[in-house]
Amino acid sequence: MKQLITNATLLTLAGDHEPRTKGGMRSVGLIRNGAVFMDKGLIQLVGLADTVLRDPEVKKGQIHDAGGRIVMPGFVDCHTHPVFGEARLKDFGLRTSGKSYQEIAAQGGGIVSSIRSTRGATESELTQRLLDQSSRFTECGTTTIEAKTGYGLDKDSELKALRAIKHVAAGSPLEFVPTFLGAHAIPPEYQGRPGEYVDMLIKDVLPVVVQEGLAKFVDAFCEKGFFSQFECRKFLKAGADAGLGVRIHAEQLTRSRGASLAAELKAASADHLDHADAVDLVKLREAGVIAALVPGSNHFLGHRDYPDARKIIDAGVPVALATDFNPGTCPCWNMQEVISIATTQMGMTVEEAIIASTINGAHALGLGKTHGSLEKGKQADVIILDCSDYRELAYWFGSNIVSKVFKKGKLL
Ligand code: NIG
Ligand code: FE
Repeated sequence: MKQLITNATLLTLAGDHEPRTKGGMRSVGLIRNGAVFMDKGLIQLVGLADTVLRDPEVKKGQIHDAGGRIVMPGFVDCHTHPVFGEARLKDFGLRTSGKSYQEIAAQGGGIVSSIRSTRGATESELTQRLLDQSSRFTECGTTTIEAKTGYGLDKDSELKALRAIKHVAAGSPLEFVPTFLGAHAIPPEYQGRPGEYVDMLIKDVLPVVVQEGLAKFVDAFCEKGFFSQFECRKFLKAGADAGLGVRIHAEQLTRSRGASLAAELKAASADHLDHADAVDLVKLREAGVIAALVPGSNHFLGHRDYPDARKIIDAGVPVALATDFNPGTCPCWNMQEVISIATTQMGMTVEEAIIASTINGAHALGLGKTHGSLEKGKQADVIILDCSDYRELAYWFGSNIVSKVFKKGKLL
């Protein structure tokens, strides 16, 4: 169905076709008295209402008067772990009584404790949970997510998680970009043998993932107590050699050397980066790697320090923001909350945070040509906010001010 939004305060985010950096992260393409016309799943016309309304075709569309409110692209959340069995309230309880994430993981909590419920769930149970979850993302204005596995950690369960993503992607308006995060943690049966576990992933699981077209990216958690730079390199290179893109959990809890590995492998993104140094930033910039920052996990883990977004942007590295939605470090699916944290805790301007949550998120997923901005010919993923000043996106923290969501031109 044809859709016309009139009387809009547009944030088009139109601009460079490359990931936005430095000053390019400041221009949101504001157009007052704007309009967007969508048809066949795409944006057909966008700009000043006077110009858009001149085309007779637009009158055939269902009309939405935005009443001066903000109209912008849907959020592209480029880092989530949404396929898991259960919430981790036991870990949360231990943390509220003073234990750290690493201490809880060492005591058998953490990622490994999510294995049990994920392995125990059937494919259709995981599918149903993910489907329920997907509407929470869209209600909050997210129209595309990257979705990682990483709570199965054996052949059958990792494939089951990827197939659940595939089923949901076919039936939900939320768009999914699947990532095989086989190297997320060392499962109990491989305790003390991370190298053998990685070899098993490469030999037994990756070929099926590739053959069935189940993933677009591979990812690994490069961290003390998880996977070393050497093990991550082996796994990620195997993925890259098989035609998949690369992303890395890098420098999250300690200085893990994941960022330099991301640069070496020309990863699509290096994620977290709490402990990245100035040399890492130069390498990331030169290799064209996007920094995907996920401050919701710092917030939820009670870390006082956040990744230094100001330093990363000033170093010329393009920054994307994401929720990191997962049961351990960030049970939050709302990108508006992430934007608020990024602006209040990480020194980002609202403009930078908006660009990081839309067009740069799209670039981090290899979707920069089709997603993340309101431009003629792009996919019609559009949201209307219940506000007329875009700074309100960061201001009303903890709330959801998205009032209408269009995915591929269809009103949800
Ligand atoms: O991005 N760091 C690794 N993975 C997740 C945490 C997953 C979990 O604790 O379940 C993250 O924070
Ligand atoms: Fe993560």
